[in-house]
Amino acid sequence: MPIRRSKVLVKWIYENQHKMQTIRCCSSLLRYKEVEESAQVEPETISIPQTTPIPQIAPEFSFKYSDLQVRLAAPYQLQPKPDASALGFGKYFTDHMMKVHYHKELGGWQKPEIVPFEYLTIHPAAKALHYAIQLFEGMKAYRGIDDKLRLFRPDLNMERMNLAAQRSGLPMFDGEELIGCITRLIQIDQEWVPHSETSTLYVRPTLIGTEPTFGVMEPDSALLFVIMSPVSAYYKTRSDGAVSIYADPSVVRAFPGGVGNRKVGSNYGPTIEVTARAAKLGHQQVLWLFGPDKELTEVGAMNIFVVYINEHGDKQLSTPPLNGLILPGVTRRSILELASQWEDITVKEEVITMDRLIDLNNQGRLLEMFGAGTAVVVTPISNVGYVGENIHIPTMKQSQPLFQRLKDTLLAIQYGHIDHPFSRIIS
Ligand SMILES: Cc1ncc(COP(=O)(O)O)c(C=O)c1O
Repeated sequence: MPIRRSKVLVKWIYENQHKMQTIRCCSSLLRYKEVEESAQVEPETISIPQTTPIPQIAPEFSFKYSDLQVRLAAPYQLQPKPDASALGFGKYFTDHMMKVHYHKELGGWQKPEIVPFEYLTIHPAAKALHYAIQLFEGMKAYRGIDDKLRLFRPDLNMERMNLAAQRSGLPMFDGEELIGCITRLIQIDQEWVPHSETSTLYVRPTLIGTEPTFGVMEPDSALLFVIMSPVSAYYKTRSDGAVSIYADPSVVRAFPGGVGNRKVGSNYGPTIEVTARAAKLGHQQVLWLFGPDKELTEVGAMNIFVVYINEHGDKQLSTPPLNGLILPGVTRRSILELASQWEDITVKEEVITMDRLIDLNNQGRLLEMFGAGTAVVVTPISNVGYVGENIHIPTMKQSQPLFQRLKDTLLAIQYGHIDHPFSRIIS
């Protein structure tokens, strides 16, 4: 082969290496046709109250997508793509990552860059390691049935990230600039987005305070990075397809005035012991209660929903209000917005106590209970372990459960079975 042609070939391989291996496992069980009509939401007609103002950041203080620099991995740095059946949740990482440093002394945000996936070098005194001055997000890139890649309402993740940054003394940024960088990162590692409707590419933006000093104060330096992992199911369900949850009234996840409504790592570490205790007792997740009335707040890393027959005889979908104890989930908000367009369902944000839940169940009015979040979409709950009792919830006994309709609708939007303003096509 002439030298010039082989040079061109080598260059082509170098630039297209990420396309040369694929994760394949195709299946489509979505009953998308049934949900197509009901999902046609006009978002401007929806008004779900949001309790927190969106932080405003002047564009001159943000890093810019237009400054993004890209350094592709060399062929020897590329990782083999695992089989879809082996994915698990966050075990494997794609070939590239995105980084952008913040240094107050250098004028703030530096230029964002995409680099081959690498370990971080971090000073042992970095504030993130001692005082948990850090935050993270969880979003997904979906490969649609048309082979186009989509993000689901990424602007809401950016908004939440900035709110957490504001509370943690970390620098804020323009969310659209980060979405631009994330989009480019996904495009580069696009073959890591599974060719499947049972797995996705999980995208994890993270912001950490890197200033290496012991003072408990706003860090002068920070690092925002984005890593990505192809994932399948977050956890195993029981044989009925649902999960069992464990409620221990002696522990809380969040408290008034705290950061339960922010996605910061310090909310998650303290849940490990209780979650392990729940697992030993045969439950998959913890139902977090709060206060003397044992109000339901969240379940594991999901927002909690119940469906019951209300005092007017109507089917009602309820979830606790955003009172500061609860993470404002993107899935939660989407469910409320979708269901409030459906005429056969009453939608309400209201306090739900354990006593109320038990009464509704004893009266035969409680129909369903489920958790919702990006990682799990919608997960039905069929049992609650509470003060030594097992409360059986008839979620899986409903002939046309609402959780399934919501799940089908969300998946249909995410995988492009239906066009919807919640989905953002990125390639
Ligand atoms: C505590 C908690 N609640 C709820 C959620 C669900 O939020 P989202 O729907 O934005 O994933 C998550 C996941 O991010 C979470 O960690």
